[in-house]
Amino acid sequence: MAEEGTARIIGYYSLCTCSVETTQLPESLTKKLPRYAALPGMLLGRLAVDVRYQGQRMGTRLVADALKRCVRRSNDIAAMAVLVDAKDDKAAQFYEHFGFQRFADRSLSLFMTMRELRRTLR
Ligand SMILES: CC(C)(COP(=O)(O)OP(=O)(O)OC[C@H]1O[C@@H](n2cnc3c(N)ncnc32)[C@H](O)[C@@H]1OP(=O)(O)O)[C@@H](O)C(=O)NCCC(=O)NCCS
Repeated sequence: MAEEGTARIIGYYSLCTCSVETTQLPESLTKKLPRYAALPGMLLGRLAVDVRYQGQRMGTRLVADALKRCVRRSNDIAAMAVLVDAKDDKAAQFYEHFGFQRFADRSLSLFMTMRELRRTLR
């Protein structure tokens, strides 16, 4: 994302496909899923906002943009959840703010199911 009318980068993120280890998901969720060790997901990574623009909702705009892209792509490519790897606990709290949940034993990895995401964006 660049500042309007300039080439100055305000913030960025990356998206790629990934595997979701189903053993790390809560049982309430795995009950409803196909019985595979891993299922396809999308990974939101490298999210960052230039320090000069932090606290101005740019991070929120970037997360919203990324999540909308994930929903659009999931119409064509199977994905059961969006994953994020937070660099520290503060970053994990930032993601929890949007409804991401921590995996049981990897507290800096979080997920949001595609079903939940679609519900949130509606
Ligand atoms: C985390 C980061 C992307 C947030 O961007 P931002 O533009 O400052 O965030 P926003 O202004 O959109 O804030 C949205 C909400 O998240 C909260 N928040 C922001 N940064 C937070 C953090 N590090 N921890 C917890 N909450 C945070 C804000 O208080 C705000 O809450 P509110 O809606 O109740 O007011 C930015 O601080 C950053 O680039 N940090 C360094 C890299 C990083 O930590 N990336 C995260 C992925 S590892």
